[in-house]
Amino acid sequence: MAQSEHRKKHNRMAFVGTLAGGLAHEVRNPLSSMKVNLQLLRDDLTKPVPESAARLVRRVDVLEQAVRRLEEIVNDFLNYARGFDLERVPCNVNAVVEEVVLFVEPEAKHHKVSLRTAFDRDLPQAAIDKKYLQQALLNLLLNARQAIELGGKGGEIFVTTRAAKGQVVIEVTDTGPGIPADVLPRIFDVYFSTKKGGTGLGLPMAKRIAEEHGGALTVHTEEGKGTSFRISMPVVKRDEVR
Ligand SMILES: Nc1ncnc2c1ncn2[C@@H]1O[C@H](COP(=O)(O)OP(=O)(O)O)[C@@H](O)[C@H]1O
Ligand SMILES: [Mg+2]
Repeated sequence: MAQSEHRKKHNRMAFVGTLAGGLAHEVRNPLSSMKVNLQLLRDDLTKPVPESAARLVRRVDVLEQAVRRLEEIVNDFLNYARGFDLERVPCNVNAVVEEVVLFVEPEAKHHKVSLRTAFDRDLPQAAIDKKYLQQALLNLLLNARQAIELGGKGGEIFVTTRAAKGQVVIEVTDTGPGIPADVLPRIFDVYFSTKKGGTGLGLPMAKRIAEEHGGALTVHTEEGKGTSFRISMPVVKRDEVR
């Protein structure tokens, strides 16, 4: 017992260490950009002949951008690191999934990505926190769209729900390029990203959310064909249904 508590604490510390290492790495870029631009701003301000206001404003713009980026990094970090506070209610998952699909559809269309759905109309309920589950789905849908965009030819995201083995299963399948074998083992790692400007928190976050629902997030991918992410969560037992 004491042994397992000890290991839990050890794992937690190792996890926080990884997270902090990633955070430090992420923060370095915007910080160094701020340092350089503050120096330039100081030079501009202390020149015997004053610089044009437009040039000074440009320097301030760059500084503002870096501050915004830092803000984003810290927010993402906190969202991920903070203990979750789920409020789970037995729900019709179809409606919750459909809402997210409708939300992302216009932007997807704009990127030549079409969305198709097939919902199991007899889907049993699952106890979910709508806000968090939708966050997880958004992350998956965004990744799917971005993967398809890599090909440049458009494509399709297929979103399905079904019940299987006491689980409610939501699947997001894309016709993107798939995930290379050397990348696959790392996709759930915090701060792992193959994208320029990617945060590398989308999948770890989605996985964490699935697990906080007593479920799991798994992936199937075929290079050149596409990728499928699957969230599964336990069905609410009959006596738990409100
Ligand atoms: N649908 C997908 N198709 C191909 N690769 C994907 C897909 N989803 C995720 N990945 C890979 O997993 C990595 C991590 O994803 P994520 O944690 O969401 O971070 P980010 O999107 O910021 O890169 C991505 O950079 C990409 O390499
Ligand atoms: Mg992502």
